[in-house]
Amino acid sequence: MAIEDKIKELLNKREEARLGGGQKRIDAQHKKGKLTARERIELLLDEGSFEEFDMFVTHRCHDFGLEKKSFLSDGVVTGYGTIDNRLVYVFSQDFTVFGGSLSETFSQKICKIQDMAMKSGAPVIGINDSGGARIQEGVRSLAGYAEIFERNILASGVVPQISAIFGPCAGGAVYSPALTDFTIMSKENAYMFVTGPKVVKTVTGETVTVDELGGPNVHGSKSGVTHFIAEDEEEGLMLIRKLLSYIPQNNLEEPPLEECNDPIERMEDSLNYFIPDNPNKPYNVKDVIHSVVDHGEFMEVHCNYARNMVVGFARFNGASVGIVANQPNFLAGVLDNDASRKGARFVRFCDAFNIPVITLVDVPGFMPGTTQEYGGIILNGAKLMYAYGEATVPKITITLRKSYGGAHDVMSCKQLRGDLNYAWPSAEIAVMGPKGAIEILEGRNIAKIDDEKEREKFVAEKEQEYKNMFANPYRAAKFGYIDDVIEPRNTRFRIIRGLQMLSTKKLTNPPKKHGNIPL
Ligand code: HXC
Repeated sequence: MAIEDKIKELLNKREEARLGGGQKRIDAQHKKGKLTARERIELLLDEGSFEEFDMFVTHRCHDFGLEKKSFLSDGVVTGYGTIDNRLVYVFSQDFTVFGGSLSETFSQKICKIQDMAMKSGAPVIGINDSGGARIQEGVRSLAGYAEIFERNILASGVVPQISAIFGPCAGGAVYSPALTDFTIMSKENAYMFVTGPKVVKTVTGETVTVDELGGPNVHGSKSGVTHFIAEDEEEGLMLIRKLLSYIPQNNLEEPPLEECNDPIERMEDSLNYFIPDNPNKPYNVKDVIHSVVDHGEFMEVHCNYARNMVVGFARFNGASVGIVANQPNFLAGVLDNDASRKGARFVRFCDAFNIPVITLVDVPGFMPGTTQEYGGIILNGAKLMYAYGEATVPKITITLRKSYGGAHDVMSCKQLRGDLNYAWPSAEIAVMGPKGAIEILEGRNIAKIDDEKEREKFVAEKEQEYKNMFANPYRAAKFGYIDDVIEPRNTRFRIIRGLQMLSTKKLTNPPKKHGNIPL
């Protein structure tokens, strides 16, 4: 064959591979409002940067007549490219080929890029749209999944891993996204569950729709499986690009530093008057976050899940930080099971990838009650404590208002190796709030007073005494547990100075195989 013909053959094969399962199936994909695997990659990566591997791979299955039916690429598009000129590896499942189902060779293609990402220290982005294990391949498909899972596990904390779900993701297939750092679901077409509605009906008798069982709203607000919900696929892909801008390429690098035009000494006078006089009045802690970070930009993670805790990424003087804040606007900012888990996972991510953690505290304590205790609030609260306590990245804590009881300890206190613990003058740092404290301390004396008015007066006096003692930051500051009481309007500057001072921080944990976080 002449070279021209050989090149023509190559180009034809490429063309064939690019068509996946064929034009009819591509049209069907578009009709559902979905993009194809390659269109998604084009949108995700810098223009023209994608280099594809394994276009000519096909399955090796000879059962169920599959030997007569095969497609180049075998249902997954893999390769590398760049996002903002930084290297990333990507795989994108192609629903037009056997419903994106996973074969042995499909799995090998994904494993190849996972291995390469580990060697070159770059993120892996997986776009999921698949009917799960390729039924005809049986256990080889299951083994293929496990090969991917093992690599997800080994890559955890070494390179960032991000999963997008733009179609079905069911059965054991859900565990690869679950093992990665962040999951994004599109509003339409995406669902994730371990067992589908039919099996649910057979086993438990429960009737449930696909969306009720594993749609984006469920995973974004109830289970916490997904960190972001995108209006559509394009928005989801842009979210991934943005997310990566806060994150380093791997655990040995620092996050990218952006140019910052927001003055570091910018005073935010309104913050001096921000905390309501009434300690029980809620406010939106996101207002505080927006007013202190660079250009007011905050990328919230898990925004509809455990809303009593706010977590997300922002920058101070161009440097990436993770922010963790109690949210007085929702359940008074109390720590419950979900909020504790949400915070713990976020803090551990930041610590794994050298992203300093800024904590804004206004917490009345842990949520009481059987629901919380039965749900393991002891273990879940301990997770958050563990995450903060083991973290070696710079940690700056600002107590805005309440910091009560066990929750005070958990929320990055000084003794959990908090580097800088500042408080606003409105801070109240105590074992509990005045009402509860006086009921316990003075219960006996209160009961002795028959006259109601006298009783109220006595309680009010005692509460005032208690407030004078504890409803301020100076007790804690007196012991050095608070490094300084700062003017709220100066918060941005103090955080930036703190981050600059801590930029050379060195701290390591004792050598061990791994800790035993209370899972
Ligand atoms: C082989 C599959 C397939 C699969 C879909 N297809 N899923 N082929 N193995 N798992 C094929 C279909 O035969 C069809 O081929 C094409 O893909 C498109 O599928 P449709 O059913 O026509 O599409 P749609 O109506 O959109 O439905 C999508 C779907 C449905 C909901 C995903 O296909 C489905 O229920 N698939 C099976 C899902 C499943 O039970 N998977 C196993 C889960 S257990 P043609 O040639 O007709 O176009 C699992 C274990 C993993 O995954 C364990 C890991 C540890």
